[in-house]
Formats: sequence, structure tokens, C-alpha cells
Amino acid sequence: MDEKSKTFVFTLEDNDTPTLDENDTSPKTFSFSNFADQFDGHIEKSIRGYTDLRNDVVGMSKFFIEDGTQVLDIGCSEGTLLERIARDCPVGDVEFIGCEIENSFVAQWEKRDLPKELHLLNEDILDWGNDDKPLSKILKPNNLSLVVSLFTMQFLAERHRLELFKKIYDNLVDGGAFITSEKIFAQNAKVQNMLEFLYYDYKKQHFSEKEILDKEEQLRFLAKLTTENLLMKQLRSVGFRGIQIFWRNFNFIGVLAMKRPKEEMDDC
Ligand SMILES: C[S@@+](CC[C@H](N)C(=O)[O-])C[C@H]1O[C@@H](n2cnc3c(N)ncnc32)[C@H](O)[C@@H]1O
Repeated sequence: MDEKSKTFVFTLEDNDTPTLDENDTSPKTFSFSNFADQFDGHIEKSIRGYTDLRNDVVGMSKFFIEDGTQVLDIGCSEGTLLERIARDCPVGDVEFIGCEIENSFVAQWEKRDLPKELHLLNEDILDWGNDDKPLSKILKPNNLSLVVSLFTMQFLAERHRLELFKKIYDNLVDGGAFITSEKIFAQNAKVQNMLEFLYYDYKKQHFSEKEILDKEEQLRFLAKLTTENLLMKQLRSVGFRGIQIFWRNFNFIGVLAMKRPKEEMDDC
């Protein structure tokens, strides 16, 4: 393997926490594929309160999913959130579609006994609209009652975000919702500094200082963080209303944005 493209080398401790091989000093590149078999456990340790966030999303999904519609999870990784939403779904005749760019999750999906209405696709969400790709073939136009995307938008280039928000909005049915979560920059520099370091204090319970710093370095070229203000403005500008932050932990937020019927749009 090319030294420059060498990725994280993990050894598994008894508690399943991935740790770096301290003797391996070669340049490394962060990739979600390194976690494919243990992604859910890893993200729980990386983001405080992540289990609550997921539970809230599953709870909220029931307020939006409608019979005869589709549900999309963008950046679904293991697909376990979407599977939970599907298994808890109170109505029938709903298709659940997960989109994940990283192909190392595929083997993981194949090992599981997934509900037949759940379709996990190995595809870049930016290909949505390309009629030759599976996602565009399976999605019916304007038929989504719910779109979920937890901690994925921050990995898209900034120039693609607004366009994707618009595509999500346009393809939702009236009364549908987009639930997203992101790591954001705080508006105030002191608050940003404080929350970031309190976050490192939390991460130190699960990761070594070296792991924390290495990951920060490797995420530099991947993570494109937004601010709360910009996110709210972008969501509103494409048409979303009733935009509500429902979950917050350090600089991580969970946001609900709804597509309201035209006659109600000025009220919220
Ligand atoms: C931080 S993880 C979050 C995963 C999952 N949503 C969760 O909360 O457990 C971000 C995921 O988005 C995926 N991803 C990043 N860019 C993507 C893209 N352009 N299209 C589809 N998936 C993408 C990554 O491979 C990764 O699995």
C-alpha cells in the first residue's frame, strides 16, 4: 500500500475501543471504512448523548412517516438507525432507503437479516438525480415523508450543501420532515474554545490524547463545519419551516425542519 494513503491501524482492546498502534508513525488518512464493523459503538463514544439523539429521531419519525411514502437516510453507515425506524414504523406500505458512500459497510449489511422494505445502497448522495444510479431508480419523485441524515452533511463540500437541502425539500411531501444533525462552530470564539475543550475532556474517557489529536488532524480535509446561523438560513431559504433544534451536546446539534403546506408557510 502507498505510504501516503495508509489508513488508521487499529487493535481492539477488551472493551472494543479502537486504539491506534502507537508504534506506527506513518502518515494516515481517516476513513469511515476503518470502523465498518463497529461503527455504532465508535460513534457513541465520540459524541456524548448520541444514543438519546437516535432514540429521539426514532420517536419523531412516527409523527411524519405516511402510508405509501418513502424514507431516506443519507450517510446511513451500518443502517441500524433506519432499521429501527423501519421496525418501529406504525404504518404499512413504506420503503426505507439508506444511502452510504463507503463500500466497506456492504459486507456488514449482508450479514444481517434486514426487513424486506429496507434497501441499503452503496452510493454517493451527490449522485441523486443521476437516473442510471440505484438511488434515483428507487426514489419516486416527491414521495419522501421523512429524510434523516445524522452527522453526514458536515462531510459534504460546502458548495453542494444548499443544492442538496433543496433536493431534499423538493422531494418531501407536504407535512414531511428533514431531521439532521451536525457538528457546528459556535458563534462566539470563547464559547467555541470552551465547548471544544470540554468535548476533548469527554473524549478522554474513551480515547487516548494521541488518538484524539490524530483524528482532529485527519478530519481537517474532510469536515466542513457550518454555523447554526448559516444552517438555519440555508434551511429556511430552500423552503423549510418550523425549524427546531431539538438536541444539543457541546457543539453538536440535532435539527428538525419541516415542509409545511403553502398556505401555512408564513406562520412559522
Ligand atoms: C459520521 S458518519 C455518521 C453515520 C450515521 N449517519 C450515524 O449517525 O451513525 C457519516 C457517514 O456519512 C457517510 N458519507 C459521507 N459522505 C457521503 C456521501 N457523499 N454520500 C453518502 N454517504 C456519505 C460516511 O461514509 C459515514 O458513514
